[in-house]
Amino acid sequence: MTINGRSVSGTVEGRTLLSTFIRETAGATGTHVGCDTAQCGACTVHVNGASVKSCNMFAMEADGADVTTIEGMANADGSLGTIQQAFQDHHGLQCGFCTPGMVMTAAALLKENPTPTEGEVREYLSGNLCRCTGYHNIVKAIMAASGQDVSSIAAE
Ligand code: FES
Ligand code: FES
Repeated sequence: MTINGRSVSGTVEGRTLLSTFIRETAGATGTHVGCDTAQCGACTVHVNGASVKSCNMFAMEADGADVTTIEGMANADGSLGTIQQAFQDHHGLQCGFCTPGMVMTAAALLKENPTPTEGEVREYLSGNLCRCTGYHNIVKAIMAASGQDVSSIAAE
């Protein structure tokens, strides 16, 4: 498969999860594993442009696919991408464990719906859990990344 534009190949067991392949074979450890049971969303990546919980997909199912992880969200010069920068600017993270998945889900949302309402952001994030409960700032960061005025949105 291709991960963030780099060709990565490996031999896996049938049971090897895509999240394991990304972290252990490709070394892209920005993809986090919080539950391994498709509940928390920390492992969210894009597979052929679609948002996927990578612990819920076998690596072999992504054979030949184009995969993007959080490492692929930075700009070409290594600086933070728009969504990443918005998370930093609006304090959209605390421990940071959920953040890679939040950013990947946000990217999928903004691709589908470039100017979502606050309610739409909250609905779209329903599969991503933040154990630090930093949701207000996460939502604010995503709204800001969409270019909308966030001055009236509550912060934590
Ligand atoms: S680690 Fe995949 S959803 Fe939690
Ligand atoms: S920032 Fe800690 S889990 Fe979300």
